[in-house]
Amino acid sequence: MTNLVVLTGAGISAESGLATFRDPGGLWRRYRPQDLATPEAFARDPELVLGWYDARRAQLAEVEPNPAHLALARLEREWPGEFLLVTQNVDDLHARAGSRAMIQMHGALKRVRCQACGAVHEWAAALPRATPCPACAAPRLRPDIVWFGEMPMDMPRIMAALEDADLFVSIGTSGTVYPAAGFVRMLPPHARSIEVNTEASAVADGFDELRQGPAGVLVPALVEELLCGG
Ligand code: OAD
Repeated sequence: MTNLVVLTGAGISAESGLATFRDPGGLWRRYRPQDLATPEAFARDPELVLGWYDARRAQLAEVEPNPAHLALARLEREWPGEFLLVTQNVDDLHARAGSRAMIQMHGALKRVRCQACGAVHEWAAALPRATPCPACAAPRLRPDIVWFGEMPMDMPRIMAALEDADLFVSIGTSGTVYPAAGFVRMLPPHARSIEVNTEASAVADGFDELRQGPAGVLVPALVEELLCGG
């Protein structure tokens, strides 16, 4: 049995039409993260922050999973050992492609969280300021997104899976945001690691193997190879 951990980043959703963060035209090339993705920004200008996440949530209705998302869902279904998909993406494309054994470590656009009672709610619509929490009625809902300076979600489960991994595959992430960028260094010595990206990431030298090109082409080919032995 082989334990497999897959990490994905914004690059896997690029071919579905969602902008990445740091490529030319990426979100952090057009907007300042400190204005939109920090607890301080939300306290200072909640309308601006909520409006930005509303627009990104609404955009999900216009995009579809691509062959890379679909291939990872197939990999999960057919893989004979333990499988965990860890994504930094807050879009819903992995889930819509059929992935189930998945951790969205930076949160999800389609969830909101109450800052008063802590309840988490599925949320498909816009989130106007001061919307009452369906659980406790406090007007303190926020996007269930990990902002800069906040702790990623489910880290103990992720660390446990990495410690037991025999194979680690990282797809479409620039390797600039920790802790995800450090995962390749946390693997047991025997584990094989593969990076799939259009260019070498900032942590590419930590991988055994680099595959350069678009995820929509390379991931289905890799999945076929892993399941069928080449
Ligand atoms: P980045 O925008 O930093 O990196 C995207 C990576 O995908 C780059 O290395 C690209 O070369 C690569 N890429 C682009 N198109 C691709 C394609 N078609 N196929 C394969 N690779 C492709 O995005 P992330 O690494 O995901 O955090 O960013 C990490 C975190 O930074 C995000 O989760 C977000 C952001 O701030 C939060 O919002 C908390």
